[in-house]
Amino acid sequence: MSSSARFDSASAPGMAGRSSPWPARLDLLQSGTGLLLALFMWVHMLFVSSILLGNDAMWVVARFFEGYFIVGRRVPALVALTVATVAALFIGHAALALRKFPSDYHAFRTFRSHMKGFRHEDTSLWYWQVVSGFALFFLASLHLGTMLTRPGRIGPFESGDRVWSDVMWPVYLVMLFAVELHGGVGLYRLALKWGWFAGPDPNVTRRRLRAVKWTLTVFFVVLGLATLAAYVRVGIGHADHYGVPYTPSWIEVPAP
Ligand code: HEM
Repeated sequence: MSSSARFDSASAPGMAGRSSPWPARLDLLQSGTGLLLALFMWVHMLFVSSILLGNDAMWVVARFFEGYFIVGRRVPALVALTVATVAALFIGHAALALRKFPSDYHAFRTFRSHMKGFRHEDTSLWYWQVVSGFALFFLASLHLGTMLTRPGRIGPFESGDRVWSDVMWPVYLVMLFAVELHGGVGLYRLALKWGWFAGPDPNVTRRRLRAVKWTLTVFFVVLGLATLAAYVRVGIGHADHYGVPYTPSWIEVPAP
């Protein structure tokens, strides 16, 4: 399409002088918060998966974020502060995303029928991003609420108890697939939208980006499943001592 044929809201009938920079600004903000959240999720998964290296490794990671190795005592408020920051990003991102949701059932049906007619992978990916985003709105709110109100209850036994005895594993299982799909598709769409890694041939770029996206998604889903299985195993083994926190054998006095 030539630039002169592009739709210009300022020249549309009844819209003279109404062109606003805000839609573009909000779009940029949505992209920025999405990028930060996606990067956070990768780092989060790497830290949470420390359980695969053993209970001591996960205990060290959990205490590290409480400042234990710096101030010599546990400060769970530091974790709560991180959770509050992530929650603010999450709420901002979700609120901005609401603008893109189909506004009613009719709009939803119209989109679905277009999607089926097009049979275009990127259009279908957008649909799955909306569906997974909707699910995450509830699932991640639950998880962030728990982390915000119980920041001191993170550790191999504490997390194992939550996953198994508090029956959080079904929530984590669904959330894992939703977040990896949502984040993977989101980053792919960001790369296309802003032209990151763009080569001379757009079709080749698209194919390459898709391959990278699916590789990352599969990697983090497999890592997440192995991690979840490890928490389930720890939780089952610890069920008879529910609520008793983990203390490594090399610590003589439990951390205050
Ligand atoms: C600073 C904020 C966060 C903290 C401190 C945190 C911490 C944790 C911890 C300690 C676990 C291990 C299980 C447990 O203790 O219950 C966990 C698991 C998990 N978290 Fe988070 N989390 C945060 C934010 C998020 C967000 C925003 C999402 C997704 C939108 C998320 C998705 C998950 C998933 C899917 C699992 C299960 C891991 C697996 O299946 O292997 N977390 N998180």
